[in-house]
Amino acid sequence: MPRKTRVAVVFGGRSSEHAISCVTAGSVLAALDRERYDVIPVGITREGRWVLAPDDPARLAITAGVLPAVEDSGAEVLLPTDPGRRDLVVLEPGSMPTALGDVDVVFPLLHGPYGEDGTIQGLLELAGIPYVGSGVLASAASMDKDVMKRLLSSAGMEVGEYVVLGPGEWDRDVAAATAKVSGLGWPVFVKPARGGSSIGISKVPGPEGLEKAVREAEPWDPKVVVEAAVAGREIECGVLGGLDGAAAEASLPAEIRVVGGHDFYDFDAKYLDDATEMDVPAGLDAETTARVQRLAVQAFEALGCEGLARVDFFLCPDGRLVVNELNTMPGFTPASMFPRMWAATGLDYPALVDRLLQLALGRSTGLR
Ligand SMILES: Nc1ncnc2c1ncn2[C@@H]1O[C@H](COP(=O)(O)OP(=O)(O)O)[C@@H](O)[C@H]1O
Ligand SMILES: [Mg+2]
Repeated sequence: MPRKTRVAVVFGGRSSEHAISCVTAGSVLAALDRERYDVIPVGITREGRWVLAPDDPARLAITAGVLPAVEDSGAEVLLPTDPGRRDLVVLEPGSMPTALGDVDVVFPLLHGPYGEDGTIQGLLELAGIPYVGSGVLASAASMDKDVMKRLLSSAGMEVGEYVVLGPGEWDRDVAAATAKVSGLGWPVFVKPARGGSSIGISKVPGPEGLEKAVREAEPWDPKVVVEAAVAGREIECGVLGGLDGAAAEASLPAEIRVVGGHDFYDFDAKYLDDATEMDVPAGLDAETTARVQRLAVQAFEALGCEGLARVDFFLCPDGRLVVNELNTMPGFTPASMFPRMWAATGLDYPALVDRLLQLALGRSTGLR
């Protein structure tokens, strides 16, 4: 009998999106076809320690509003960076190192910095192990809301107006920074350049709220992006890389509507309250649907993405589609937008997980 494909599911991590990554991992562990895949769950603690995790989806769910986290099992997992090796090694205090055997592919289910941003992709490139999703450059460029917008606009795509407050710029000259932002009009959205899950983001109605918003964003990233508010419907679209050299494909788009007291799609609206309504697929006419899909693939290609991405747009009342952002590792529980959009397009969750692994296995490492 041929050996099963061995998948290391890597989750948790050092970013603010640690818990969300755990939730995603729980769903992927539950969905992986064990007839075909051997699974090694590897958790990264909030401190950045790699540990062997229990293969138990239930422990990774949100239970009674409590967010899951990777617990330090004491069994440290080492990834040899020698590209001639493919084996993971476990170190436990007081024991000899044990080999977990060869790994064929890594599924890095990490959101945000130290995961979705090219860092783990770089580590896996060094180790010569194939992995799901975008490579180093596309991951890093897509993570940074400033760099992402520059690449998209140079590809002819519309992005919202924004300014960057570089590290320390606010403190060096508050008046100059305020003047720079004021050119955008009000309200503005103040964001860490490399964040996610709306963490550190504020909507600011006028100049007096700016300082507090900058202070909220800075701990997540000293580079702060300030954007003009874009009025429009929030439309998202999933993109999957094509198998065997085929072009990337777009899912049916979906719409998110924030209800019940949330000013925008903030963290609580995303994960905790019943504050969002999702239309999957979105109620759009055929022409707009096709336009969203075309632009989503265009954004995926402009940033050099591979595997998967979710492209988020604002659909303005005049019909313009403004790209808000592109996520190279979008929320990935069965209740998340990306899997739901693909389910509506005809690819269910287990099939989606399988497709992503097949895409990764069909690709070598290097020049990424
Ligand atoms: N420029 C903007 N105009 C209008 N709404 C915005 C703008 N930027 C962000 N938002 C709102 O904030 C949410 C989170 O912002 P986003 O840039 O997508 O951050 P994240 O990467 O954390 O998801 C969006 O889904 C949207 O509801
Ligand atoms: Mg977003």
